[in-house]
Amino acid sequence: MTSTLIADHTGNLPADDSHPYRSGPWQPNHREYDATDLAVEGEIPAALSGVYLRNTENPLLDAIGRYHPFDGDGMLHSIVFDNGRVQYRNRFVATDGLQAETEAGRPLWAGLMERPEKSERAGWGARTGLKDSSSTDVVVHNGRALTSFYQCGDLYETDPLTLAPLGKAKWTEDITPGWGVSAHTKVDEATGELLFFNYSKEAPYMHYGVVDAKGSLAHYVPVELPGPRLPHDMAFTQRFAILNDLPLFWDPDALAKGAHAVRFFPKLGSRFAVLPRRGQPEEVRWFDAKPTYVLHWINAFEDGDEVVLDGYRQDPSRGAHIKLPDALKPFSMLDLQSVGAHAYRWRFNLKTGATTEGQLSDGISEFGMINQQYAGRPYRYTWEVTAKPGWFLFDGLHRLDVETGARDSYRFPDGVYASESPMAPFAADGEESVGCVVTFTTDMNEDKSECLVFAADDVSAGPIARIRLPQRICSGTHACWAPLDAVR
Ligand SMILES: [Fe+2]
Repeated sequence: MTSTLIADHTGNLPADDSHPYRSGPWQPNHREYDATDLAVEGEIPAALSGVYLRNTENPLLDAIGRYHPFDGDGMLHSIVFDNGRVQYRNRFVATDGLQAETEAGRPLWAGLMERPEKSERAGWGARTGLKDSSSTDVVVHNGRALTSFYQCGDLYETDPLTLAPLGKAKWTEDITPGWGVSAHTKVDEATGELLFFNYSKEAPYMHYGVVDAKGSLAHYVPVELPGPRLPHDMAFTQRFAILNDLPLFWDPDALAKGAHAVRFFPKLGSRFAVLPRRGQPEEVRWFDAKPTYVLHWINAFEDGDEVVLDGYRQDPSRGAHIKLPDALKPFSMLDLQSVGAHAYRWRFNLKTGATTEGQLSDGISEFGMINQQYAGRPYRYTWEVTAKPGWFLFDGLHRLDVETGARDSYRFPDGVYASESPMAPFAADGEESVGCVVTFTTDMNEDKSECLVFAADDVSAGPIARIRLPQRICSGTHACWAPLDAVR
């Protein structure tokens, strides 16, 4: 391995940091590397050609008051597979917020667990007063990696191969000033479009939009909600976009006093907006469903008169017996067991207006990835993760067959944690399950990180290739795969 240290940033985190999400497997990286000629154990399939990109919170400076794991600065880690050669890189996302704090040498924005007034500057986010850390998600659109912030912020563009910063997405100059864009923008590889939404404490509380394959804003409409909401993800089919109004949001009484207390209001039920992808506000159709919260959708498609939506329904009653240690209690919403996340399907009948719903699987899981060629189309498989009880740490990977509920599972050794694990198809028009699943691990037993490659149709066989990274990387979440012809 040839490894070049590109930068060694000086932070000011406590030397003996004991925060559960800044220490151990969540200890952030402050060194940026370029590494080539990485040692490969096993065999990388010759057809694996593309880039795996992973974002995740990686704080450089100490917090003002309490630190929440969603406050940290974005850092991208990438691995490029090109004709048998493998390259790794990592870089902080060069946000305005990180630059301002680095110049000041201290944190300027208080995080999610503190009141916005504690921030020294106005900031970003639907809540307001947050640092826009662009740390949540990453997708590749129009040849560029786009990183985003879960509470809405600027979209930062990065070269997916070199990780060179390319500034902010130009098209965002054409949307409502100050609203930003939510994480979980969606790319339809078939049309080259990017679908997105944003939300705010100001009416109409949500917008939806489409960016064309060349990177211009093509569509942008309000989707009016009854009040401020906290949507995290959206879905699409070939003809429709699907947005949501779920009954987990800031308590309006507390909000009137300036406090942001997230509460569940089950009496309100869940509502789903189905609208044509280039539809107008009056074309939105709302479908009622049982109360829940959903972080991530798996996929959606059309089936006759029905729009089918798959995602991870939360049911906290499934985790009611779980007692978390004091240090983890503030982060119970990150514990998949506590929130009872499980694969679930909703069907919205466009003819009758009725919703039918039911679970796809009993097991607790989340972060489902699909063969992106099947996004918005009928599909059969998702590659999802399980988590260590109590923790935001991924301890298992499996392929779920959404038709039969069958799982093909792999469990990482104790002390080894994976990242979100996208599916990398071998061919542009291949079988859905033919390809690889790629992930980064954080190995606390051997103080190292690897990129692991699995055969997508035989996850339980374990990794078919292991690539050692130049440093142990912080545990992490959202990631994506992009084929080389989409990034060159
Ligand atoms: Fe997410």
